[in-house]
Amino acid sequence: MKKVNVCVVGTGYVGLVTGACLAHVGHRVVCVDSDIRKIDALKAGKIPIYEPGLEKVVAGAVRRKKLFFCKSIAEGMFHQGHTAQVAFIAVGTPPRSDGSADLSFIENVAREIAHSLREYTVVVEKSTVPVETGEWIVKTVNRFNKKNIPFDVASNPEFLREGSAVSDFLKPDRVVVGTNSNRAAQLLKELYAPFKCPILLTDIKSSELIKHASNSFLAAKISFINAVSALCERTGANVEDVAKGMGLDKRIGASFLRAGIGFGGFCFPKDLEAFYWISRQKGYDFSMLRAVKEVNEDQKLWVVRRAEEELWNLGGKTVAMLGLAFKPDTDDMRFAPSIDIAKALIERGARVKAYDPVSMANAKSLMPGVQLCKNAYECLADADCLAIITEWPQFAKLDYKKVAGLMRHAFILDGRNLLSPKDMRDLGFTYRSVGRP
Ligand code: UDX
Repeated sequence: MKKVNVCVVGTGYVGLVTGACLAHVGHRVVCVDSDIRKIDALKAGKIPIYEPGLEKVVAGAVRRKKLFFCKSIAEGMFHQGHTAQVAFIAVGTPPRSDGSADLSFIENVAREIAHSLREYTVVVEKSTVPVETGEWIVKTVNRFNKKNIPFDVASNPEFLREGSAVSDFLKPDRVVVGTNSNRAAQLLKELYAPFKCPILLTDIKSSELIKHASNSFLAAKISFINAVSALCERTGANVEDVAKGMGLDKRIGASFLRAGIGFGGFCFPKDLEAFYWISRQKGYDFSMLRAVKEVNEDQKLWVVRRAEEELWNLGGKTVAMLGLAFKPDTDDMRFAPSIDIAKALIERGARVKAYDPVSMANAKSLMPGVQLCKNAYECLADADCLAIITEWPQFAKLDYKKVAGLMRHAFILDGRNLLSPKDMRDLGFTYRSVGRP
């Protein structure tokens, strides 16, 4: 295997996992972040995010002297006598109020990389960016590349999921490399050779579009099944059987057909907006994306609607929310449905209590007015409604006999279809789930 010297700028989810996993397979990687506290923590062996398996991969690569952390791009690009051959841009592209992506961090990093070039380098956009960003990176690097060092730009989108980021990176379905240069393609093929997966070579713009199109399509699958679940609820059909029947058709596929209270997280909502924005910018109204978003926004209110159907007025009633993260195995609450649900419940006068196994620290600032509890049972004491918001496996293992005794009203709204309707009804609960009779 050919070893490549890599510099990764940005140690968020994507950057840190990329850097750690490339180092894990034997490349020499320097991760850079301007956040000094983050770099100090990483140097001390502390991982700033909750991601199963990441700590072990980082520790192993650091021990084998394959992974390094530093605070400046100049140092990352030329580190202890090694010049980076590949420089990943993995900084944030936060949403602006109009839904477009703020690309100023990308521009700043491209400029800094240009200042630090010493020999041929492939500058890779790893962050999710709108189509044509690559062209801006080329222009920016050209402008600040005063010594005219040869370079190429490539797009190499990341498809990892939070909670399974390390295994997604190490065992990808595919790696997409978008570049107009054979030399860059060759180097990136060598970089990804240890992963033994199909490598799809495209031009830069197609690669950029693949990322937005893939995430929007997955989001569309979820909204589709959630819309089907609404019809199931109105007819008595079972959405799980419908999804199974659809998913057995290989053309449809079984994944991402789990009905629930909507998708959240930092990727789907943001990428959907950004994809819609860029399509309009280019003169095309991709109205399907708008519908995907509308179904999702409406689906988040499922809990509120069902709670009112059972409890009538929510004023003075207590709703216990179990799960706050946008999905299990992460502490991430960015764009989590729990935030909108709690807000809507509080607006209707409900008292909201909540518990999540790992997101409590994040919840403090994001959920004003919500009483955060130490454990699930404390959360459920005297509640009129238990709303399951995130399908953490431990919530399936609670002692529901005890739960029934603790609650003022034995009423469950299972927003993630985690529990068995029959078991819960046998225990005396009034039980509602999404799209299941
Ligand atoms: C997603 C993409 O899967 C990944 O490829 C991309 O790189 C980043 O965005 P992530 O946001 O980590 O990953 O989570 P994912 O597991 O895809 O789930 C996103 C949301 O969809 C969650 O809120 C989840 O609860 C919801 N979801 C997922 C459903 O409601 N139903 C499903 O069938 C699948």
